Amino acid sequence: MIQRLGVIGAGLMGSGIAEVASRQGLDVIVIEATEATAQAGSNRITRSLDRGVRSGKLSEEARADALSHIEITTAFEKLSDRELVVEAVIEDEAAKLDVFRRLDTIIEDPTAVLASNTSSIPIMKLAMATQRPEQVVGIHFFNPVPVMPLVEVVTSLMTNSKVEQQAHEFAGGQLGKHVIKSKDRAGFIVNALLIPYLLSAVRMFESGFATAEDIDTGMVDGCAHPMGPLALADLIGLDTTMAVAQSLYEEFKEPLYAPPPLLSRMCEAGLLGRKTGRGFYQYS
Ligand code: 3HC
Repeated sequence: MIQRLGVIGAGLMGSGIAEVASRQGLDVIVIEATEATAQAGSNRITRSLDRGVRSGKLSEEARADALSHIEITTAFEKLSDRELVVEAVIEDEAAKLDVFRRLDTIIEDPTAVLASNTSSIPIMKLAMATQRPEQVVGIHFFNPVPVMPLVEVVTSLMTNSKVEQQAHEFAGGQLGKHVIKSKDRAGFIVNALLIPYLLSAVRMFESGFATAEDIDTGMVDGCAHPMGPLALADLIGLDTTMAVAQSLYEEFKEPLYAPPPLLSRMCEAGLLGRKTGRGFYQYS
């Protein structure tokens, strides 16, 4: 059983992972780059716990207990005693490689599990930034983490079977998520299927074929999806959607993974979806 968890990054995914783990009583240290982003992460976790209290799913005591188990800090070296660390920084290979290099020097226990929440980058690439590739595994959560029941556990060619088992027990046993196993190909199972669908919706919108609202309504009311593809891309973040598409395209060179020009332009313009207040829709 993991008791001391580290999470790197307190963005959408990192804060969700920290919240879910703290609610199960794990002791969580979350690393952020600056005091300002640490504060933003802390606010995000508090807001989400407050939402749980409001909806009657969480008691005031459980909320306070969860918060007492989380420390958000900029001091990376505080991770040294962690049994498992989940990297959840931006979907950028260079940034993630840097995190794994630093983790390798700081984590004392050679049997500690070093995990990435990457959406699409092959785990082998990240593992080779360390001197202990057998300890590296993918533990991929879905947004919003407190709501979505799934976790993909991704093993590289080098991942130790005990590490795979620990990842499975952590996500499935301790956090209560449904675990599926994937081999190490860009996009794993879910994003390899989801991203071409989202990109098709962007292409449909870009070509003037239908409005954003009609595309989304089509999939919500016609196929019973909880939200349409353009609203979902806004939720995931258009930068993340773009980054996952690029990883998939780099790996497979298939046109269905190629980001459409409109997606590129929106990312360049900083129209990244919900997190910036504007994507395919406006958010207050
Ligand atoms: N944090 C915590 N709880 C949240 C939440 C959040 N960010 N967002 C919603 N919730 C909870 C609400 O409190 C509510 O709980 P309640 O029933 O107890 O009141 C419940 O979820 C439903 O929320 P709402 O009523 O506010 O809104 P909706 O019914 O429209 O649901 C949604 C919102 C859960 C986001 C739903 O639309 C949905 O499931 N959308 C699809 C999400 C999805 O596909 N995610 C996967 C993205 S892909 C990914 O993450 C992979 C990555 O690698 C790219």
